[in-house]
Amino acid sequence: MGDKMETIADLMYKDHENVENLFKEFQEKKSKESLERFKWTLEKHFFIEEKAIFTVVDVEDFNELINIKKEHDEILLMLSDLDENSDISEFEKMLVTHKNYEDEVLYPKFDKELSNDIKCQIIERISEVVR
Ligand SMILES: [Fe+2]
Ligand SMILES: [Fe+2]
Repeated sequence: MGDKMETIADLMYKDHENVENLFKEFQEKKSKESLERFKWTLEKHFFIEEKAIFTVVDVEDFNELINIKKEHDEILLMLSDLDENSDISEFEKMLVTHKNYEDEVLYPKFDKELSNDIKCQIIERISEVVR
């Protein structure tokens, strides 16, 4: 009981690290396989955000979610155009800016403003996908 509750920000920070590691792997190897692994991991990450988190919170209270979703679509569109030979500097910039906003602003805000009930629901859903 005395245990500190896991936070949404901590869990998502860890998943961002996972995405980042696979991006670095793709940057180093520049292979089809490493690109596929990165794609799969990023798509899964956006699934967690949009389906496990954003559907549980009220968009009226957090209207920045509209922009976050728009950025997901833009990132996925860029991603679908990437291959092993693409210049990925623009893509990387966009991804990092997006991730930093979530880590520094959005998820800490969820932890601060959402009810414990809603937070538990979200954390349970994230854990079902991340493991
Ligand atoms: Fe995101
Ligand atoms: Fe994210």
